[in-house]
Amino acid sequence: MRERLEELRRHGLAAVEGASDEDALRAQEIQLLGRNGALTVLLRELGSVPAEQRPQLGAAANQIKDALAAAIGARREALRQASLQRELSGAGFDASLPGPPLPSGGLHPLTRVSRELEDLFTSMGYRVLDGPEVETEEHNFDALNIPQDHPARDAFDTIWVTPPGSGAARGGAVCLRTHTSPVQVRALRRFGAPLRAIAPGRVFRQETQDASHDHTFHQMEGLVVDRGVGVAHMLHAMHALLEGLFGRQLETRLRPGYFPFVEPGFELDARCPFCSGGCRVCKQSTWVELMPGGLVHPNVLRACNVDPEVYSGFAFGLGLSRIAMLRYGIDDIRWMLSGDLRFLSQFPA
Ligand code: DAH
Repeated sequence: MRERLEELRRHGLAAVEGASDEDALRAQEIQLLGRNGALTVLLRELGSVPAEQRPQLGAAANQIKDALAAAIGARREALRQASLQRELSGAGFDASLPGPPLPSGGLHPLTRVSRELEDLFTSMGYRVLDGPEVETEEHNFDALNIPQDHPARDAFDTIWVTPPGSGAARGGAVCLRTHTSPVQVRALRRFGAPLRAIAPGRVFRQETQDASHDHTFHQMEGLVVDRGVGVAHMLHAMHALLEGLFGRQLETRLRPGYFPFVEPGFELDARCPFCSGGCRVCKQSTWVELMPGGLVHPNVLRACNVDPEVYSGFAFGLGLSRIAMLRYGIDDIRWMLSGDLRFLSQFPA
C-alpha cells in the first residue's frame, strides 16, 4: 500500500509537470484527485489494511493529496502566466481574423419614407423645407383661411402654448403646430411664386392615444404655385408619389373633401396595395385613404402676398406616419415614437 502511494506521488507529480496546457492539466487533476481518481481508489482500499497501519497510511495519503493539489495549483498558475506572456508578446495573435461583430443601427421607418420622398420630389424640382414646431396662431390658422371663430379649428385639437387669440396683436398666440400646412405660408412669404416645395415634419394634437392616434405624428406637406396650375397637375404629383412609394401605379379615386385652405378640396384614395378583396388594412373596403389636397385657396395666396389673379397652386398633406405604417405593415402608430429596440431593430441598415 505504501509503495503504491509513493508511486502515485511520483507518477502524479510528473504528470502534472508534464501537462502542456490547462485542459491537459484539468484532465490530470480529475484522474488523480477526482471522485473516481487514483487517490480515491487507494483510499477506498484503506479499509482492508490492518487497523494499526491505517492512521499512518491515511496521513500519508492526505499528504500526497495536498502535495498533488499544490502542484496542480502551481502548474495552473504557470500555464496562465505563460499564455498571458504569449498574448502580450503578440505571438499567436492573428490580425486577419474577423473581430467581434459590432451592432449597427438602422434608419427609422419614418426617416426612410421621408428620405425616399424627398429624393423623389427633389428630382422633380421641389425644394425640401422645414418649419418651426412651435408655431404662431397666425401661421397655423389665420393665414390658412381658418380665422379664430372658424369651426374647422375645432377639428385640430390644438395644444396651445399661450391661449388662442392672446398677445398684443391678433394672431399673437402660440401653439404646437397641428399640421405642416403653416410651412406653405412661410415658404410663400419667403420665396414668393413660382414655388415647388415639400415640407416633412412633426405635428402635434391633443389626442387620446390608440393604435391609430398619437399626440405626435409626422406629415409631409406639398405645395406648387405657378401660373396655370390646376387639378391635373395635382393628380400628376400624387400619382408620382404613389408610384414612388409602392413601386407601381395603383388605381385611385378622388372624393370631395373640405379644408379651409383649399378650394376645391379633395381626398385621394388608392386601391388597397395589400389585397384585392378586402383586408384589415383597408377595413374590407379595398380602398385606403392616402392624402387630402386641393387647389390653394385665393385667401391663402393673398395672405402670402401672392396675386391669385396671376398665380394658382395645389397643396397636399400626406400623413407620413400612416404611410410608413402602410408601407411596412406596422399595426400600431405608438410604436413609431416608442424608441423600443424590439421595434427599431426590425429596420436594420
Ligand atoms: N393640413 C391638413 C391636416 O392636417 C391636411 C391637408 C389637407 C393639407 C389639404 C393640405 C391640403 O395641404 O391641401 O388635416
